[in-house]
Amino acid sequence: MRHLIRGALPIVFCLASATGYGSESVVRVGDLRCECATNPLGVDTVHPRLSWRLTSPRRGEVQTAYQILAASSEEKLKADEGDLWDSGKVIADQSTQVPFQGKGLSSRQHCYWKVRVWDKDDKASGYSEPASWEMALLSSSDWKAQWIGYTAGWNGRALYFRYHFDIRKAVKEARTYVAGLGYYELHLNGVRVGDRVLDPGFTDYSKRVLYSTYDVGGLLRSGGNVIGVIVGNGWYGMPKLLLQMEVTYTDGSGDWFYTHGGIIGESWRVTCGPILANSVYDGEVYDARLEKSGWDLPETIPEKPVDRTEGWEGAVPVEPPGGRLVSQTINPIKIMDTLHPGKVSEPRPGVFVYDLGQNVAGWAELRVKGEQGVRVTLRFAENLAADGTVNQENLRKAAATDEYTLRGGGEEKWEPRFTYHGFRYIQVEGFPGRPGLQNILVKVIRSSVHPNGVFEASNELLNRIQKMVWWTEASNLYSIPTDCPQRDERMGWLNDLTVRTEEAVYNFNMSRFSPKFLNDIGDTQAEDGSITDTAPFKWGMRPADPVSASYLLQAWFLYQHYGDTRAMADHFDGFKAWTDFLASKSKDGIVTYGYYGDWAPPSAYTVEGSLGASAVSKDTPVQLMSTGYLYYCSRLLSSMAQILGRKDDKTKYDVLAQRVGEAFNREYWNDAVGGYGANNQSANSFALFLGLVPQKQVPRVVNNLVKDIKVAGGRLTTGNLCTKYVLEALVAHGHADVAYEIVTQKTYPSWGFMLANGATTLWERWEELTGGGMNSHNHPMMGSVSSWFYKYLGGINTDPQAPGFKRMVIHPYPVGDLTWVRSEYTSMYGVIRSAWRREGNTFRLNLTVPVNTTATVYVPASNVSQVTEGGKPAASAAGVEWMRNEDGAVVFEVGSGDYEFVAR
Ligand code: BGC
Repeated sequence: MRHLIRGALPIVFCLASATGYGSESVVRVGDLRCECATNPLGVDTVHPRLSWRLTSPRRGEVQTAYQILAASSEEKLKADEGDLWDSGKVIADQSTQVPFQGKGLSSRQHCYWKVRVWDKDDKASGYSEPASWEMALLSSSDWKAQWIGYTAGWNGRALYFRYHFDIRKAVKEARTYVAGLGYYELHLNGVRVGDRVLDPGFTDYSKRVLYSTYDVGGLLRSGGNVIGVIVGNGWYGMPKLLLQMEVTYTDGSGDWFYTHGGIIGESWRVTCGPILANSVYDGEVYDARLEKSGWDLPETIPEKPVDRTEGWEGAVPVEPPGGRLVSQTINPIKIMDTLHPGKVSEPRPGVFVYDLGQNVAGWAELRVKGEQGVRVTLRFAENLAADGTVNQENLRKAAATDEYTLRGGGEEKWEPRFTYHGFRYIQVEGFPGRPGLQNILVKVIRSSVHPNGVFEASNELLNRIQKMVWWTEASNLYSIPTDCPQRDERMGWLNDLTVRTEEAVYNFNMSRFSPKFLNDIGDTQAEDGSITDTAPFKWGMRPADPVSASYLLQAWFLYQHYGDTRAMADHFDGFKAWTDFLASKSKDGIVTYGYYGDWAPPSAYTVEGSLGASAVSKDTPVQLMSTGYLYYCSRLLSSMAQILGRKDDKTKYDVLAQRVGEAFNREYWNDAVGGYGANNQSANSFALFLGLVPQKQVPRVVNNLVKDIKVAGGRLTTGNLCTKYVLEALVAHGHADVAYEIVTQKTYPSWGFMLANGATTLWERWEELTGGGMNSHNHPMMGSVSSWFYKYLGGINTDPQAPGFKRMVIHPYPVGDLTWVRSEYTSMYGVIRSAWRREGNTFRLNLTVPVNTTATVYVPASNVSQVTEGGKPAASAAGVEWMRNEDGAVVFEVGSGDYEFVAR
């Protein structure tokens, strides 16, 4: 098999055209991406990374070279004129994250590109279909717009901004750049622009404000035009708007229309409208009688707004939020699905409760007909009270209630804009008449990251657990990875993220999400290197709990799953500063602080009386966890330094890791019992996971771990973090069957117990709690079991030596009563499939490996002679190379293609 070294300096040896290379390759090039997005606007780096996918009917297909053409116009690209970049034929197998190396790119620049490749026989493919990207506003001097808002005496209501302008020439194209804080909704000539909701993403606005770019050329008309923007409070608290519309005419001239105070031509006008109250936590109050119909249409401002108490005023310049304007490259939040409730009951006269049958995050659209002035209330909840009405106790101070006052006459449809809820139940009060199922439509909302994985198994319980984790993760991607979507919190908790990140990256494409969140974490960093418990920082402590290795892990998984080295390079100094900070808070190698540690184990294992506010483990010392994570961060930094070619740093963090590892063993190893700390599941699994257990002690520690699990009846005694490590350590040390026993438990504490008690998303605690306090029913921190499914049951793993799934390790463990598993993961190269089935003594593995990648495949069998591929002895099958036998598996190396391995 041929291996090309990825990342090696590409050699450019000629400018070739497709002709002259004999017949065309069977390889097809498609799915072109720029910065992991399809034809993005607002690209904010001058070396955007380009990726493409290849398909081929042949096995073992690779790319041996590529040529990229980038042009400043579609016509030039069509004529094969790469005036921005002609890479020439580059001998390299890299087909993802190839940095643009052409002419310097400037703000607003349009780039059109295509690519062709040379296959394993050095035959050129045809060029791909063209793709494009457009540059963002790269410098603060690109902005003329000013932040505007309301005059003094703002009453808390959402603001409606309106600007009238004239277009007198033929429009070639137009872009609108907009940041409306907290959240905005953009209209142009009566049309709502785009499908983003709850935009822009949540950041520390004093450091960074995200703006969105819209292509609005098609919405402009000759003559009068109106921009209308509704701005709500969001996470910012007070509506402010910044907008710049740039119009280019066909004659090459242009006009800019932008927010400003004072008189420049027509002024920006502002008023309050029907949104009387809006709050992320509490909900939205809307009075349709106050709608100012036509407010966003070019015909003059309606002469008699219905709400006569507030007319339109001139908008005024306001204090900018302070942060840098940055193009929003994270997948915007959108309505991703609509669901119909399956049931509606009437627990009290006039009180109707809808049951969606699934806990979700989003909002509801109300459909109603009735008299003007009738007020309908919608209360959202995860739980029901004994009498069948909603129980909102666990939402703490979040009112999670929307109110709609009817305008009257005809059917009215309404949904909120500037709030969202986490709920399964909706209680409707004040409805005129008797509402039916058709009166409520639920909109499922999240950052529009693509689902990335499929996992299914013969044991239905696993499918239900997977679904439960999926919905939990899906409910908590709101431009930051929130801890929960329902109560008065919804924060990006870094401790939870330490074990959640890998689960998220298997279930969703996080290639654009995680870099944004990394910036959010970076924005919290102080001079002394400390970061904070949540990002953006609103809750928790500074310095963050040392378990917040999630800071580094964001970059680590971006590298492992997408081959992204930029995130790692950009934040390397920040990672060092955080790790050095932790080292500075240690004494003799032991980190001396920590707050949460292995948070929220089963209540019997928490400090006494901790079912309320605290959920600290009584057995696992926080300092043990803190020190383990200093070790983990040092190891991660050493690996990153190696990847980035930073030799001195590699040495520095190797030395630190060594010192901290020794301290960990000195402090927590208990030779008498053969375990760590209290010799409990958490401490032992964590030490094993970190690789800190001296080789000769490993069997004792593993025995103790397994024994402890057996004593607990095959159940966990761990909290959010070590739950992951128990399952991982068991597989790594030959006890996948014990991990499976844990995973398939149905009694407390287990995922099966949650399901048996009606959970459709993960609880925050292993216990079923519905009162006030820490009792979220949609909390991803216990969800690491899902990445365990993909990695060990499906068997789909990255290969750290060839990241981004350039090479993968397929290692399924057919454990317990499982007779089949079907798993899929969409990588940058295409879909990876690993599906297996057992019948009697026969094990059958169907595998799909994308073009331009290779896989190391573990087939459970003791000898290669027992394994066939495609009906032939595997050792001699085309494109299959036998490598070795290892621990009850026969190991092969394969290139791209579809394979069927059978072991008997
Ligand atoms: C969050 C948790 C987090 C914890 C740390 C809670 O309020 O919801 O997810 O782990 O705080 O104390």
